[in-house]
Amino acid sequence: MSTGTNRCVLITGTSSGIGLATAVACARAGWTTVATMRDTTRAVALNTAAETAGVSLDIRVLDVTDDQSVRECIDSVAAEHGRLDAVVNNAGAAHLGTLENDSLADIRASVEVNFFGVVQVSHAAMPHLRASSGRLLTISSVGGSIGQPFNEAYCAAKFAVEGFMQSLAPVARTVGVQVGVIEPAAVTSEFVANAHVDVAAMVAQAGPYAPALTAYAQRTMARYEADTGKPQTSDEVAAVVMQVLTAPEMPFRTQTSNEARDFVGQSLSDLDGSAVLGETRSWVGQ
Ligand SMILES: NC(=O)c1ccc[n+]([C@@H]2O[C@H](COP(=O)([O-])OP(=O)(O)OC[C@H]3O[C@@H](n4cnc5c(N)ncnc54)[C@H](OP(=O)(O)O)[C@@H]3O)[C@@H](O)[C@H]2O)c1
Repeated sequence: MSTGTNRCVLITGTSSGIGLATAVACARAGWTTVATMRDTTRAVALNTAAETAGVSLDIRVLDVTDDQSVRECIDSVAAEHGRLDAVVNNAGAAHLGTLENDSLADIRASVEVNFFGVVQVSHAAMPHLRASSGRLLTISSVGGSIGQPFNEAYCAAKFAVEGFMQSLAPVARTVGVQVGVIEPAAVTSEFVANAHVDVAAMVAQAGPYAPALTAYAQRTMARYEADTGKPQTSDEVAAVVMQVLTAPEMPFRTQTSNEARDFVGQSLSDLDGSAVLGETRSWVGQ
């Protein structure tokens, strides 16, 4: 990968949160930054942040679930900027639900954006990253290593991302491309608001799962209100993304906080799954 200031990075899902913060951080570092989003009328916050930081961005449309949008955007970036040195697969969406209360369409929709969206963008970007000996970095989650209650579809998609990328990493390396994933724990962003979850309505319709959902919601609220589990800011996560993008060798898996490191570490050494289940069963009142 070029180490000069002419490096070009493309980031998905930059209308808010981690994607927005990462776009501004990349531009601050002197990279040509292509900040993509599925609806550019939602670029107000990004434009304001860029103006405050005194940086300029190339803002383009890219919907990770629309193959034509992905290919048109990435090919035009490579043609117009002449190179693509890094892609940050950031776009993603929360989904709260459980097997019996979700439709298959709900589950497919979550996997479509959180897994196939990543695959689609990576597929289109790979020839350009190969040309630049570039980097392919995906924002996964601690939920890519640990299955969490009422996050079945979301965690399945993030596990799939990690399995896909860990399998791709050695192959991509043979053609000069470094592949990695970032695992944040809770982060302050639009993530929860964008999921449009009405917990009270969900509980009312949860049938036999109502007690578990109530316990899960109460635990989540209590952690946010107490100091434990205080979320990181998007800027803090973006700083870790920058470290990883500019490290001489990109690690495959990077947690963004001590909390995330402890949690993922527990799962990776939990051969029979009892440690993680011991923890997550307590989240649903068991
Ligand atoms: N927040 C957390 O606690 C947390 C923890 C671990 C990992 N993560 C991961 O971090 C990444 C960023 O999330 P965030 O926390 O920054 O949440 P966020 O503020 O909701 O940002 C998500 C971004 O993804 C975009 N997006 C959704 N569907 C899209 C699509 N089909 N095509 C293109 N963009 C799309 C959203 O755009 P719109 O404005 O168009 O909806 C938004 O810009 C996600 O992959 C998420 O899974 C988040």
